[in-house]
Amino acid sequence: MRHLLSSSDLSVAEVDSVLDVATQMAEVARRPVKKLPALRGRTVVNLFFEDSTRTRSSFEIAGKWLSADVINISAKGSSVSKGESLRDTALTVAAMGVDAIVMRHPASGAAHQVAGWVDASIVNAGDGTHEHPTQALLDAFTLRNRFGSLAGRHVAIVGDVTHSRVARSNVITLNRLGARVTVVAPPTLLPAGVDSWDVNVSTDLDAVLPEADAVMMLRVQRERMSGGYFPTAREYTVGYGLTRARLGLMADHAVICHPGPMNRGLEISADAADAARSLVLDQVAAGVAVRMSILYHLLAGESVSDVEGVTSENHRAVRPVAPEPSVPSAAPVRAQAGASV
Ligand code: NCD
Repeated sequence: MRHLLSSSDLSVAEVDSVLDVATQMAEVARRPVKKLPALRGRTVVNLFFEDSTRTRSSFEIAGKWLSADVINISAKGSSVSKGESLRDTALTVAAMGVDAIVMRHPASGAAHQVAGWVDASIVNAGDGTHEHPTQALLDAFTLRNRFGSLAGRHVAIVGDVTHSRVARSNVITLNRLGARVTVVAPPTLLPAGVDSWDVNVSTDLDAVLPEADAVMMLRVQRERMSGGYFPTAREYTVGYGLTRARLGLMADHAVICHPGPMNRGLEISADAADAARSLVLDQVAAGVAVRMSILYHLLAGESVSDVEGVTSENHRAVRPVAPEPSVPSAAPVRAQAGASV
């Protein structure tokens, strides 16, 4: 792995490897001293052109727990606000000799562009409405921990699919892992071309809920909406919110996910967000372990053949895995909205 730009960059074996190493990394989080030497001497820059709480801070924690030096740059307070281009900013950061750039940008395709300009490893931490591969990996990690395996599980992805990079990356990763995916949204928030995705499509949440093992609620992304995608917030909630009444439609074993930040009272009720079956905080915790694993895979290289100092009984080799030609290619998932660079 050189970069992580799209969920489709990873073969099934590579996804498994990321999740297996994340399991070992999660051990570190349970220790009083949370530090591994694996990335000593490596430098990671978090380059964020959009707001973020959990993604940026979990990458920062992940890098620090692996002993990398981590620097945060956000558009606000940087030369970007003085008119610098993305290319100049990226080249400037890379010229300082950094090993990896974790970047979030409002334009779909921005991470791909930067990967073509610099030598550092690029991790896409969200590009416009296109993809958010590390979120999909942490969601898969969370669900795998709960269910043992995702094979044959039914995941409903509900809400503002049109503007959701989380949905696009999750569709790819969940399909890789053998899950069945249904996307549920009002017709106005189903992206053009969704019929070609490898998913079932529904506009009837009440019909899908009883069938789902996991219900992944998406934030209504008002900041990306220029027009009226639904009449009022109240009507959205009535049709597509995970209300208290709808919790009763879910199977007893079914779980709730949300990538955060949540709009409580809009797409998710407080009853759902705080329910025992809600995995929202498990997802946040998984974010650190999964991002440790990703930085490890990208930066530890072949010089490190095992995760130094994790657990001797849980010790396993970590080697780059060649892509599997037999794996069916990902659904042709493309950004339907948002600017291109
Ligand atoms: C998501 C994102 O930024 O795409 N958040 C996150 O990374 N946890 C989802 C969202 O903003 O709704």
